[in-house]
Amino acid sequence: METVAEPAAGAHRFASLAGTATVQTLAEIRPRAEPRLPTGLEEFDRVLGGGLVPGGVVLIGGDPGIGKSTLLLQALARLSEHVSTLYITGEESGEQVALRAQRLQLDAGGLQLLAEINLEKISAVLAGTRPRVVVVDSIQTVYSEQLTSAPGSVAQVRECAAQLTRAAKQSGHSLILVGHVTKEGTLAGPRVLEHIVDTVLYFEGETSSSFRLVRAFKNRYGAVNELGVFAMTERGLRGVSNPSALFLSQHGQPVAGSCVLVTQEGTRPLLVEVQALVDSAHGNPRRLTVGLDAARLAMLLAVLHRHAGVVCADQDVFVNAVGGVKIGEPAADLAVLLAIVSSLRNRPLPQKLVAFGEVGLAGEIRPAPRGQERLREAAKLGFTHALIPKANAPKQAIDGLTVLPVERVDEAFERLRELD
Ligand code: TYD
Ligand code: MG
Repeated sequence: METVAEPAAGAHRFASLAGTATVQTLAEIRPRAEPRLPTGLEEFDRVLGGGLVPGGVVLIGGDPGIGKSTLLLQALARLSEHVSTLYITGEESGEQVALRAQRLQLDAGGLQLLAEINLEKISAVLAGTRPRVVVVDSIQTVYSEQLTSAPGSVAQVRECAAQLTRAAKQSGHSLILVGHVTKEGTLAGPRVLEHIVDTVLYFEGETSSSFRLVRAFKNRYGAVNELGVFAMTERGLRGVSNPSALFLSQHGQPVAGSCVLVTQEGTRPLLVEVQALVDSAHGNPRRLTVGLDAARLAMLLAVLHRHAGVVCADQDVFVNAVGGVKIGEPAADLAVLLAIVSSLRNRPLPQKLVAFGEVGLAGEIRPAPRGQERLREAAKLGFTHALIPKANAPKQAIDGLTVLPVERVDEAFERLRELD
């Protein structure tokens, strides 16, 4: 195949641009601390990484009805006490928003409202009023006249978000985009926007529960996986500042198949009860997880068989993380295994025991990040025994906590037997 040579004049063309773009060494660049604009809702600020950032763009997604508009209205009401804010609503009328503010008993008199879905008109208002914080609820309702595709289509959503983002970067206002969609959602929207924005937050948890979790999936300005915990009330979402005991169910008696895990969500340790039910299978054995990785369960069962001689091949295995919290970290492995074996043998684990640690294919138990913090949180909540990876064993004793460090899966079960 013949290739066309680049014209030799190429170098000349670029010569005229010399000096228009600057290259710097890293040492020359003085990073400035991002100024933060706290919303005053502590749990929301926590997931944001300390508050909103001027020019920063946040996408907040979640199922319809989970509380996105409520949370943002509360945040804007707080902010409007000292900065100028604009709530752009494409889903509800101004009256509906005002009614909601009334119902939540918010002091939101100064909050500016725009009921508009036309991007060009929105841009004009932004340029004219120059607010510091802008919410667009929701991005799926906004459309640009420049595009022929329908509002809510991928092309519209992407283009509108890109233009609104550009405007935020230029004028320096913080922008929050609301997107309807579950994390695994298929609707056009949030998923195609994740790379455009700086921060992606998702509501998670069960709609039926009275708690709401907001998790940071991406954050250029803070820790990823940070979790904000809220309780739903008649007056809106109220932050739960000490949620570590929230995901423990209250058993009067110790029950088989339950193990308390200390997980680390963002910057905060959380205690979560992991429950397993192992029961003889009729037909193909089923493996089901809620809030935990399903593929990992199959692997853990194989490790259990090979390295501890525990057979579940003819058993259904169900595993659940209590409270609708999603646990992504492998440090949950050990607690999952303990819960499974406890259910299989129908023997409760010792009361006041916690566990964490990743399990490897060779049956080894690997350390989890920030082990000390996890242990201290467990001790604080009154747990007395911790079965953990040897590499996480603290150098100094922790008051009230007996640490059982283990290196291998079979060893973990031995240590447990010694406790009985
Ligand atoms: P809403 O914020 O409208 O959900 P989204 O914007 O995600 O679709 O909340 C749905 C309904 O729940 C709404 O009627 C208000 C009510 N609600 C409360 O009464 N208290 C609360 O704390 C929350 C979050 C919602
Ligand atoms: Mg809404």
